[in-house]
Amino acid sequence: MPKTEPCLVVIFGASGDLTSRKLIPALFELDRLGQLPEGLAVMGVSRTPLSDDEFRTRMRNAARDQSDTFDEAAFDTFARRLHYHAADATSPEAFPSIQGAIKELAHDHNILRQGGSPNILFYLSVSPNLYEPIIDNIGAAGLVSEGKRWCALDTTAMPWQRIIVEKPFGTDLRTAQSLNMALGRVFEEEATFRIDHYLGKELVQNILALRLANTIFEPLWNRTHVHHVQVTAAETLGVGSRAGSFYDAAGAIRDMIQSHLLQVLALVAMEPPSRYEGNAIAREKIKILSSAQIAATEDEIRQRGALGRYAKGADSPAYTEENGVDPDRRTETFAAIRVGFDNWRWAGVPFFLRSGKRMARKLTEVVIQFRSPPLDIFEQFGAPPPATTANRLIISIAPTEGVTLQVAGKVPGSGFNLDTAELNFDYAQQFGSESIDAYAPLILDAIKGDQTLFKHRDEVESGWRIVQPFLDSPRLRESIEQYQPNTWGPPRADEIMAAEGAQWHNP
Ligand code: BG6
Repeated sequence: MPKTEPCLVVIFGASGDLTSRKLIPALFELDRLGQLPEGLAVMGVSRTPLSDDEFRTRMRNAARDQSDTFDEAAFDTFARRLHYHAADATSPEAFPSIQGAIKELAHDHNILRQGGSPNILFYLSVSPNLYEPIIDNIGAAGLVSEGKRWCALDTTAMPWQRIIVEKPFGTDLRTAQSLNMALGRVFEEEATFRIDHYLGKELVQNILALRLANTIFEPLWNRTHVHHVQVTAAETLGVGSRAGSFYDAAGAIRDMIQSHLLQVLALVAMEPPSRYEGNAIAREKIKILSSAQIAATEDEIRQRGALGRYAKGADSPAYTEENGVDPDRRTETFAAIRVGFDNWRWAGVPFFLRSGKRMARKLTEVVIQFRSPPLDIFEQFGAPPPATTANRLIISIAPTEGVTLQVAGKVPGSGFNLDTAELNFDYAQQFGSESIDAYAPLILDAIKGDQTLFKHRDEVESGWRIVQPFLDSPRLRESIEQYQPNTWGPPRADEIMAAEGAQWHNP
């Protein structure tokens, strides 16, 4: 297993919401669990003028707000790792001072490596339009030497420089390619960590364990036995204050499907890798995502996609009434798409992805729907279990974590009535441990240089190719439907399922 080494985590966008809500709490959690190396320091960079102490207080307050069991003394110890440097990282003129601060902290925390430079993990937690200028400036300042040295016989003592890039990773295929090129000019692919917090979720990681650490599922995991697959990420909350600043220009396809749901889909559909290792897994994910059928005509797009936006509820505004929304833009708060793959394993099997705000339940899950038995010998005794619900494998990712296998069974008593029963594997009950926030294991992996749970540039670009027709189609956008809050989305989403003889699992 890769080891953690001392390093400086340089967070660009340190006064922003993500840093206080996710990144620092994740690092604090890792520190409490004893998983951070001795010489690890954090340097927050933002334009807001703040002293180290002010930054520490802000971070402490935010971490305290999110925890029922906040440990003040443990945070005192952790806070010694935290520093702040006010600078505008989009300006090349700011870099001599950023470089100076890096050197100083690396010296103070004893993280200097061979050649007098520290290991650095850059974290881009800024608005996406600032990604490229900051990456260019990091490169121009000569802060990245990894992959650029030659003749180095022993690279183990050499400092490394890595970068974590947050989503959104581009707003379409073209901008994603441009961002990948900007990254590639400065960082090796091995040093580029495109983060997707869904990959840090226990039950997402468990997809491969379920498939490949057991022998009973994989023989069934193909077109012969699987009727269709559903991936749902439903949320009960509306878009709220993010509407004008982010969401209205994004929508559910960009925000959820292109990123999180296609990653889940790739883990469900990919071929088994030869090893549990970053490169081997990335190769399989790239292969499956690039074998997806791309909707080519307006008719195909209409048959495979449904968009919706939430209507006014009893005590909640319609999406179009949220602050900063331009109703004419027809941004979707719900999207469902059907994807198919051109490969032997999945030819003819539809995969349905859907995600929406203000839906009936907070629910993230994968449903593998198996085919009906070839012969129904129990028909004579009354209604058989509906062919569309028996034999489902449900992987519950959130809020409950577990796996359920639905099977048909005989109802006790005279006669021969069948009903669907469940075999349940509840994670919390079985393993008894609370899962930690998805960011913590991912940041730790980046510190170790382990890319297994990160996205390769080709995965991102293949993902955009799949969703791009749904984003570009004026007809699909015109057909956007309103749906009532607390429901499972617009009727059109049921129709694209029904056309394939399937129905959504709406618990
Ligand atoms: C984020 C999206 O990436 O994921 C949000 O930008 C969404 O809109 C969130 O609410 C959902 O994450 P989770 O972990 O709650 O399913």
